Amino acid sequence: MAGYFITFEGIDGSGKSTQARMLADTLSARRLDVVATREPGGSPGAEQIRALVLEGDPDRWSAETEILLFTAARRDHLERLIEPSLAAGKVVVCDRFADSTRMYQGLRGPGLRDTVDALHALMIRREPDLTVIIDMDPSKGHARAKGRRTAEERFEDFGADLQVRMRQGFLDLAAANPDRCVVIDGDRTPEAVANDVLAIALDRLATT
Ligand code: ADP
Ligand code: TYD
Repeated sequence: MAGYFITFEGIDGSGKSTQARMLADTLSARRLDVVATREPGGSPGAEQIRALVLEGDPDRWSAETEILLFTAARRDHLERLIEPSLAAGKVVVCDRFADSTRMYQGLRGPGLRDTVDALHALMIRREPDLTVIIDMDPSKGHARAKGRRTAEERFEDFGADLQVRMRQGFLDLAAANPDRCVVIDGDRTPEAVANDVLAIALDRLATT
């Protein structure tokens, strides 16, 4: 089988990490060769960039510098883990990918989305085979995310307005890319969400 690339996207606290882990575990239990990974990060170099970009004051980096840092991290992750795993026929399950840059950096000012898309076209190019967008009310997602208490809070501190615009942005992205994206209601039990995710993933894998 050719490799298959699945990404999870959505606002902070929507349940992406939980669902990515559950799907990877279930597919592994069904004897598929699964690589579970995340962005920013996923390779040693990209994990170092992750620490630079997620910790510190919200104004530590401009949105333009962030686009460069996230794309640099993604390029390393792609070269060292994602592409070799797909070439070996594995299923790659990734918590966040390029759609996060399109939303988190692309929505922060006029013209930034074009910059994200241009750099993606130059340096990344690859799109996932399937993107699961976990949809969630931002105030509920924020409450969940705050419950975690980590040092990686730069983006959670950008404010409620950005989260509301990003939620809509992810829904617009799904509408514009119906073959790649599915939207799942994240405001249910983890098991109920996971059942929907698994059904979609198995259906797509069966037709690959
Ligand atoms: P994300 O990766 O989207 O930020 P996480 O999967 O890390 O979200 O979940 C954020 C928090 O919410 C965690 O504490 C997690 O245990 C909890 N959580 C995840 N999914 C659900 C759910 N469906 N219902 C209630 N709480 C959840
Ligand atoms: P993540 O660890 O997935 O956080 P969470 O579990 O809270 O969703 O991602 C960390 C933060 O990085 C998150 O707030 C979104 C941000 N981010 C970007 O701003 N641009 C990107 O390209 C990526 C991949 C993440």
